[in-house]
Amino acid sequence: MTTLAILTAAGSGSRLGRDLPKALVELDGFPLVLHAARRLAASGVVDSIVVTAPDGLVGVMADLMAGDPHVGIPVRVTDGGPTRQASVAAGLALARPEDDVVLVHDAARPLVPPELVQRVVSAVRSGHGAVVPGLPVTDTVKQVRPDGDAELVTGTPDRSMLRAVQTPQGFARDLLVRAHHTGAERAAAEHLAATDDAGLVEALGEPVHIVPGDAAAFKITTERDLWLASLVLQETTA
Ligand code: C5P
Repeated sequence: MTTLAILTAAGSGSRLGRDLPKALVELDGFPLVLHAARRLAASGVVDSIVVTAPDGLVGVMADLMAGDPHVGIPVRVTDGGPTRQASVAAGLALARPEDDVVLVHDAARPLVPPELVQRVVSAVRSGHGAVVPGLPVTDTVKQVRPDGDAELVTGTPDRSMLRAVQTPQGFARDLLVRAHHTGAERAAAEHLAATDDAGLVEALGEPVHIVPGDAAAFKITTERDLWLASLVLQETTA
């Protein structure tokens, strides 16, 4: 039985303000998607990767992966979709029967520690159908609703019971397939904001477990995040 990692890289990343899709923006001389693929492979628990590529860039992504000596596991590249959910579904369509565990990881989290990948896979292999890395929330979080030209606070959830979740998220393959069909339909019908794959599993009413996340797996959204990532890399390679 094998583990497939779907590496979502089809987003535009417009908040970075570059002409390039975010996954191809360079960090320390290498595109973000390559950093992420190398770390997934370095975990030793991922057997193959499917990358979802932005429009017209399947060839570019495939060349990038094939030319890298550090990835070292089979990588296929497919067209992503208009939303992240559609991109994951496109990747999932390429899962092979032997891929009983599927990870979904964002190329926008290039510095994911291989140990975190191992932690997620081992929790799925120990019997949890859906596993998400999460970190305690340090800010107080307010729930709001629109109120004229401002927002009105409607509640303050207990911070100790909140987790900020990351990727890779790990799933038993059959559960993720069901989540992307029935779960996605239910989430849409009930207007649930399923902004990650675990949210679709929750829409099915199936349990999702949390394992400890890692600050290094932070998501790159802004130019400042890119700068922080280069500092983290310097620190870890020093
Ligand atoms: O935009 P955001 O940073 O939330 O995207 C998360 C991940 O999903 C990124 O790695 C991005 O490339 C990917 N994505 C995708 N297909 C889309 C939109 C986003 O693969 N249509």
